[in-house]
Amino acid sequence: MRAQVLRDFTKEYPVIVQGRGAFLYDRAGREYLDAVGGIAVVNVGHGVPEIIAAMREQAESVAFVHGGSFANEAAMALSEELATWAPAGLGHVLLLSGGSEATETAMKLAHQYHRERGKEGKYRIVSRWISYHGNTIGALSMSGRTAWRREFTPYLQNFPKIHPPYCYRCPYGKSYPGCGIACAEDLERVITLEGADGIAAFIAEPVIGTSAAGVTPPPEYYPRIREICDTHDILFIADEVITGIGRTGKNFGIEHWGVVPDMITTAKALSSGYAPLAAVLLHDRVYDAIATGSGHMTQGFTYSGHPLCSAVGLAVLKYLKAHDLVANAARIGRTLLSRLETLQRFPIVGDVRGTGLILGVEFVADRATKRPFPPAAGVTRRVVEAALGDGVMVVPGMGGMIDGVAGDHIQISPPYIFSEANVEQLVHALETAIQKVMREVPVS
Ligand SMILES: Cc1ncc(COP(=O)(O)O)c(C=O)c1O
Repeated sequence: MRAQVLRDFTKEYPVIVQGRGAFLYDRAGREYLDAVGGIAVVNVGHGVPEIIAAMREQAESVAFVHGGSFANEAAMALSEELATWAPAGLGHVLLLSGGSEATETAMKLAHQYHRERGKEGKYRIVSRWISYHGNTIGALSMSGRTAWRREFTPYLQNFPKIHPPYCYRCPYGKSYPGCGIACAEDLERVITLEGADGIAAFIAEPVIGTSAAGVTPPPEYYPRIREICDTHDILFIADEVITGIGRTGKNFGIEHWGVVPDMITTAKALSSGYAPLAAVLLHDRVYDAIATGSGHMTQGFTYSGHPLCSAVGLAVLKYLKAHDLVANAARIGRTLLSRLETLQRFPIVGDVRGTGLILGVEFVADRATKRPFPPAAGVTRRVVEAALGDGVMVVPGMGGMIDGVAGDHIQISPPYIFSEANVEQLVHALETAIQKVMREVPVS
């Protein structure tokens, strides 16, 4: 019996005692290559002295003040720096502690934006199936993740969902480019059916994270989404909790489509995991509607704008810039993707995809028909465990991305300092893991 409650009550977790660069070390001295950056969090690497020094310096001046009473220099400096990272117009920064806080806050701000303009009825948020926006009730209501929603259905808001831009398994049975981006047009259909006067915003992950790692929509997708949102006076929220702060090889993932959202939520990489930290970036039009309206937000958290966490965030942004690590995420991401593509010589590897350093490998029982393995075969778990046995940590993608039940994939999202040697170690471990799983689970 252990005192700490962990997610799986029966599992024995390795106890990590040290992190250095792209590696973690457990109590028994075992080394793990962190090929997931925790879970798309760590970007500058573990144990970076500059970040630790910034944290100590801030703790020595002031670790905490409450944002309801005081401003603080660390939060002000981080906000100014983060504004320079953002697409034009998104220079207003609300600092928070985690991704779910950020998306839930964006949800409420979307409603406030419309309320301030006399459109009280616009409060529902449209999102996509095969998505994750967080675990609090508002965030989970927006999340299209069947397995995590099921137990909590009585609490959830009735928010509409559209199909995801999952080209490998097009929900319409079409293929790009002949599809006419039916998955984006679906937004127009749902808005018309539900009534635009009840809808505040559409939220999406620019590149899908843990729900179907690495799924990247075609070039026309977000421009069309933006157009539909504008037509119906609906805000577009880019949930960049995973894709933000350089993970896709650009500051924000949505920049790959040249589209400017009304709000961006970001978290994980903002602090590289050295402290809990998140942000909502507001476009001028959202900020101004509130500033010239009530001038007040009826929401807040104890740790919003936390000085210590802000100092960490600022140190991380400076470190990323000083070492040109966003460019490295793009460069090493291309190398990693092309090396992972070689895994397609194994019959159980159906799809390899991703942008920058958010990548996924999908497993199938039959590559010709894309038939998935039965969930009971535990293919994802087996691959992850085999790689871990070889000292390489990858993350199990959320099962059920095909129909809410079936579907196997892994997520790969390493720190931006990942090297060619790290790539080779990862690919070798996956080759071995896949071969082991093919022996254990018969392929038809
Ligand atoms: C896209 C996205 N949004 C929101 C969240 C929720 O973030 P957190 O776990 O920090 O609450 C996550 C977490 O994985 C995420 O991937």
